[in-house]
Amino acid sequence: MKYLVTGGAGFIGSNFISYILNNYPDAELVCLDSLTYAGNVSNFAGFDKCRFTFEYADICDRERVFELTERYMPDFIVNFAAESHVDRSILYPTAFVSTNVLGTANLLDAAKQFKISRFHQVSTDEVYGDVDAPHFSVESDTLCPSSPYSASKASADMLVLSYFRTFGLPVTVSRCSNNYGPGQFPEKLIPLIIYNIMNDKPIGIYGNGLQCRDWLYVEDHCRAVDMIIQHGREGEIYNIGSMHTVTNLEMVDMLVSAVGRTALVDHITDRPGHDKRYALSCDKIKGELGWTPCVDIEKGLAKTVKWYMDNRDWCEDIMNGKYIEKNKEYIK
Ligand code: NAD
Ligand code: TYD
Repeated sequence: MKYLVTGGAGFIGSNFISYILNNYPDAELVCLDSLTYAGNVSNFAGFDKCRFTFEYADICDRERVFELTERYMPDFIVNFAAESHVDRSILYPTAFVSTNVLGTANLLDAAKQFKISRFHQVSTDEVYGDVDAPHFSVESDTLCPSSPYSASKASADMLVLSYFRTFGLPVTVSRCSNNYGPGQFPEKLIPLIIYNIMNDKPIGIYGNGLQCRDWLYVEDHCRAVDMIIQHGREGEIYNIGSMHTVTNLEMVDMLVSAVGRTALVDHITDRPGHDKRYALSCDKIKGELGWTPCVDIEKGLAKTVKWYMDNRDWCEDIMNGKYIEKNKEYIK
């Protein structure tokens, strides 16, 4: 099987490539990535280079997307490429519309033109917006995104599903909760907290820190996406999450004990439009595909903290910008 994986130099995309390489000895993967600030070629370390190819390309470049799809003729296109950080979407919303919506449209058109067997869109629980307890979002809920990030992801979901209805393109969509694990860019909550604890820096928590998130270990997400691509029904949406929510302050406590050091919490100005709670029902993927998470939060955080401790250079390269030089060297 051949996969075209967009955004494979980022956090979840690189974990997905690793998961497929490790679990399918015959799989071949092509990673299409434009190496934005979030892309990091160090994430390719350990990949079997006989079955992995990197293509430096932007999904907004329609001609290049068509050229690469025609050249590789993949069985599956798995779209991870995105601008993914809510805080940045508040500063630069149009970049989110370009990549997350127009880029996805280019990929869909290429998938249609070259009759790709499955187009999988990697989406997020944030498309449901703020969810009051005790509700857990189900796939048929109305979308109510709050940030430019989640609005652009919701738009992409609708576009993907419209290609199923209008053109019969074989698509699936997954909506996952917050991921954590090895290789996450330290702009997101968990790696940022770990980095700050390790370096005796204060932890900046937005507002009162009582916002709830459902955290899933990245490998559980990758396994779910694989199961959906292999066995999910075309035209369907599948939620993926741990069904266990914690507040941001509870997460700080868990990480303080996982790292084994103390930390100072600074309550800083809240994020505009900050969603208070995300919570997913995962009955559909459990019932139809038999997926359940394997890594509980304590074990997952312990593995993640260990990875960041063992890979201080990876983090420092990001913090001092050296990884950008390494990216440039790689594509020369
Ligand atoms: P990330 O920011 O770590 O990585 C994104 C990758 O996409 C980077 O390698 C970047 O270079 C690449 N990219 C960005 N714009 C591109 C473009 N125009 N053309 C080609 N490549 C481009 O993101 P992530 O956290 O790994 O998230 C991956 C996907 O999963 C996203 O679609 C995101 O919306 C979704 N998701 C993320 C989470 C999470 O908790 N991180 C949860 C649910 C869903
Ligand atoms: P984040 O990792 O950015 O994911 P998302 O906003 O997509 O859920 O943030 C997770 C939660 O942590 C969210 O409620 C915002 C909060 N947060 C902070 O309190 N401080 C921070 O520095 C960051 C990055 C996030």
